[in-house]
Amino acid sequence: MSERAQFATKMGVIAASVGSAVGLGNIWRFPYEAGMHGGGAFISIYILCVILLGIPVIIAEFIIGRSTHKNANSAIKTLAPGSKFRFLSYIGIIASTMILSFYSVVAGWIAEYLFLSITGSLNGHTPQEYSEIFSSLVGNPWRSLIWTYLFLGANFLILRKGIQKGIERISNLLMPLLFILLIVFSINSLLLPKATEGLKFMFMPDFSQVSPGMVVGAMGQAFFSLSLGLTCLLTYASYFSNKTPLVRSATIIALLDTCVAVLAGVIIFPAVFSFGAEPTAGPKLVFEVLPNIFQQMPGGYFWSLAFFVLLFFASVTSTISMSEIFITFFTEEHNMSRKKATWLNTIIAIVFGSLCALSFNVLGDIKLFDKNIFDLFDYVSSNILLPAGGFLLAIFVGWIMDKKVVKEQLTNNGTLNVKLMKPIIFCIKYIAPAAIALIFLYVIGLFKHIEALFI
Ligand code: TRP
Repeated sequence: MSERAQFATKMGVIAASVGSAVGLGNIWRFPYEAGMHGGGAFISIYILCVILLGIPVIIAEFIIGRSTHKNANSAIKTLAPGSKFRFLSYIGIIASTMILSFYSVVAGWIAEYLFLSITGSLNGHTPQEYSEIFSSLVGNPWRSLIWTYLFLGANFLILRKGIQKGIERISNLLMPLLFILLIVFSINSLLLPKATEGLKFMFMPDFSQVSPGMVVGAMGQAFFSLSLGLTCLLTYASYFSNKTPLVRSATIIALLDTCVAVLAGVIIFPAVFSFGAEPTAGPKLVFEVLPNIFQQMPGGYFWSLAFFVLLFFASVTSTISMSEIFITFFTEEHNMSRKKATWLNTIIAIVFGSLCALSFNVLGDIKLFDKNIFDLFDYVSSNILLPAGGFLLAIFVGWIMDKKVVKEQLTNNGTLNVKLMKPIIFCIKYIAPAAIALIFLYVIGLFKHIEALFI
């Protein structure tokens, strides 16, 4: 394999991984999942999942990637020749393509909202009208398809022109701006008439609402939001230098990502109650609620424009990271040219992305387990494939890899004093795999008595 580049600075490492992690998962998916699952209890379980499963699995991905400086498939072949764990890279490719497909539909909605913000037509409507604006977008097959394709086209061009580094650099400048904007919006939301109701919904957990669906939803959301379980962060870590402190970087990434999600909640929920929306609205939640917020702010035109531009960039840095998993696999493992791999990735995403976009209109009647195609893609990838990937990654690092290498990686060859080394290894080896397995069993219903404990 050719010489691989390395991130020059500690900031570069964190910025690129945060660029992958922060995206629609935080701002679109987190509020709607929390809203559908009763708010506070979901958020508590979510945070528990980030700490007990998320951080250990990020560290596991980092250890595999950084110790080999290779992509997932070769890394596992190097660390455990002949091992079946190479399946991990297949899970990665399937899940990242599924996610790219439905993610592009939502990013397409963001692109259209950006367009509407530019033309000024997102200003001056009633809550009812905002709801209609969104329904007419997703209800129209052509409009949905065109915006999905435009987004995938942008993703393709960035990858083809080899300017993803440039985009990442721009978005590293924009991310702090997005963060500041979110803080301004959350202060604005805290001043809304029904802010307390929103905050109570988020921060006063009602644990009587805990259900298998909620727990698996919170776990899936944690994996999704942290870009975890499909070797995306493993691939990024293969570019880390030997000086990058893995534990500290993983903690900072998880912390920043969680802050963005919680801020998004603090923006959305006071507004949900103040503008008479339903917290259980699902994927359309933020699209119906956000325009109401912008328009009651002085200078609403500017705020909505700034917000959708920044969110667009946040989405692109996330989709680049999904596509990179696919492209790296086919170029490094199957000698495919980068051009071909990028085309293949985009064509597959166009096919499945179309099915997802059409599942809100002409294909709306096709349902499995009461879920349309879009929801199925989301559910299977986020709630099943990502945690399954995380389970295998934790088992691999905890049980299969040479313990000496694991310790060397955690301490950078003994140069770092990692105080929490034992608990971290314990979480990777026991807690994370056991919790993921138990949650799966709980969902399948084999653990009815666990449910009984909560009722
Ligand atoms: N974490 C990103 C978000 O919150 C989405 C994402 C990017 C992702 N790369 C991923 C999710 C890899 C799972 C796996 O928007």
